[in-house]
Amino acid sequence: MKPVNIGILGLGTVGRGTVEVLRGNAAEIARRLGRGVNIFMVSTRDEAKARALCPDGTRITADPFEVVRHPEVDIVVELFGGTGIAKELVFEAVRHGKHIVTANKKLLAEHGGELFALAEKHNVMVQFEAAVAGGIPIIKALREGLAANRIRSIAGIINGTSNFILSEMREKGSAFADVLKEAQRLGYAEADPTFDIEGHDAGHKITIMSALAFGTPVNFSACYLEGISKLDSRDIKYAEELGYRIKLLGITRRSEKGIELRVHPTLLPESRLLANVNGVMNAVRVNADMVGETLFYGAGAGALPTASAVVADIIDTSRLIAADSGQRVPSLAFQPAQVQAQTMLPMDEITSSYYLRVQAEDKPGVLGQIAGLLAAQNVSIEALIQKGVLDGRTAEIVILTHSTVEKHVKAAIAAIETLGTVREKVVMIRMESLHD
Ligand code: NDP
Ligand code: HSE
Repeated sequence: MKPVNIGILGLGTVGRGTVEVLRGNAAEIARRLGRGVNIFMVSTRDEAKARALCPDGTRITADPFEVVRHPEVDIVVELFGGTGIAKELVFEAVRHGKHIVTANKKLLAEHGGELFALAEKHNVMVQFEAAVAGGIPIIKALREGLAANRIRSIAGIINGTSNFILSEMREKGSAFADVLKEAQRLGYAEADPTFDIEGHDAGHKITIMSALAFGTPVNFSACYLEGISKLDSRDIKYAEELGYRIKLLGITRRSEKGIELRVHPTLLPESRLLANVNGVMNAVRVNADMVGETLFYGAGAGALPTASAVVADIIDTSRLIAADSGQRVPSLAFQPAQVQAQTMLPMDEITSSYYLRVQAEDKPGVLGQIAGLLAAQNVSIEALIQKGVLDGRTAEIVILTHSTVEKHVKAAIAAIETLGTVREKVVMIRMESLHD
């Protein structure tokens, strides 16, 4: 059978990795696919780099539009990233009847609806395994492996850069800025690393998984985002003393009230597997009605793990090119006509338990006042400890609450902050037991 022709856009971290995987494992890939994968064309600003990397005969161009319009390209592999020129290129490729393989979670989370509709119209596939959790085949699992289930919730460590930073800070006491630089050097971070540390990248990924899990349109604007940049090392330490680790989690959960979709630092009991996922590793926990709890673990970023997912999509797409479109797995896992918007819960309505840190004057009655204000909002306390006196007059009080609706905790915090004895804004970090 004639090899499938691919056109690669960009030879950055993932683009280079993709060429390396395709070349390094060419024989094994052909054994699986029954045909070869031909790197027909590559778009790059650095011709010498492409000449050194790509097989002889690869066409090299500085004009990416040449790739997406070339009649002999079957699959366009978009590895530019972002929603600028990458969006134009992907849409143009689809209009030219090209199948798409992309690692671009921002594009999918922000414009997925439009893109999938266009792809359906032009009868082409859009594959995006590499967009979520690097080398972990979680998209395949959600779309196919778990298809018998009604999924209840997903919680995952899905930003390698943030997890790397938190792990290095915890294990080696390294400074935030130094570890971020190292993550950039290792090719983990996004072109703009604020996407990593402010939760946007994890938000893109959990938004995509939420749509696949619940059969809803991709709706990034409904995702609550809170990153790790404002985390205080004191809270990491106190959490640890209490038997918890802090991780940046993406969470989506379906309840009778609606769908929760959120990213934020989260205290996890140290006994949970997710709490022990360190460095650039990612892990995604899926809870579904028939299978129960499943956990997917692997490298969440980096050239070769991500390229592993890109190449798996190239293989999958090559197999399905000749198939009738009705035989293909729908992009969003559910038949397009069955993708239905559902109520997205505002943060005030989510249910969680909470870690609170209050700095207050160290004098009799203060603890009682704080406990009283929590009780007035029906927030029940699981544990309350005084962490010591800071300057002879100020005490640090750490409180763990039982599960409650977020608006009640926020109302209690607002009341606590009005107390004359309270020195600073109350620190609030959500906690998850991961039992549902
Ligand atoms: P890089 O910045 O390393 O590479 C992107 C490449 O795209 C550039 O090197 C360049 O190729 C090309 N490019 C980008 N913008 C332009 C432009 N305006 N004009 C011309 N060429 C352009 O990014 P990554 O490889 O890290 O990421 C690529 C995609 O993969 C992104 O969507 C990212 O989110 C995603 N991703 C990345 C992971 C990682 O671990 N790095 C993991 C999972 C997903 P050239 O240098 O050849 O000209
Ligand atoms: N910047 C991303 C991360 C790359 O750190 O997880 C993988 O999507």
